[in-house]
Amino acid sequence: MANHTSLWLFGYGSLIWRPDFPYLQQRVGTIAGWTRRFWQGSHDHRGVPEAPGRVVTLVSAPGSVCGGVAYQIDGAAARGIFAQLDYREKNGYERLQIDCHLESGEVVNTITYIAGPSNEAYLGEAPLEEIARQIRSAHGPSGSNREYLMSLDSSLRDLAIEDAHVAALARLL
Ligand code: SIN
Repeated sequence: MANHTSLWLFGYGSLIWRPDFPYLQQRVGTIAGWTRRFWQGSHDHRGVPEAPGRVVTLVSAPGSVCGGVAYQIDGAAARGIFAQLDYREKNGYERLQIDCHLESGEVVNTITYIAGPSNEAYLGEAPLEEIARQIRSAHGPSGSNREYLMSLDSSLRDLAIEDAHVAALARLL
């Protein structure tokens, strides 16, 4: 990591509207073969252990694309930034390298945080109404789960990124 002059991070959830780290530039981009789903439990940000909230993770979906924001990070700052992000995303997320297609047509190799089905906080699929009910009632140290969903939905709309799952949940709330 320290040998790179810069590297890229792909954000698809709270990292879109609250990156909270310095970056050289941000670009809208898509990753192929993945879709965004509210299938990850949140015990430490948007819920508590006795009443977890739901936050997004990426789920493998051949043929789908997921839009988000790619951030270019100065290589000299990367170690500190990833240490901070590893802490922020500690509730089940792991780093994975994924190619991101920028709107310019450029492809950049990015690091992204994914919470896979084998992590302890994973909740998985549920009917949309049930997910919406859980989001409506959950609160945690970072704020309400409803605010997470609404911030994500409005950021995606501002960036002209379509996401039927997120939009349907926002409508239900
Ligand atoms: C991300 O934003 O890329 C990871 C999930 C989250 O922090 O909401």
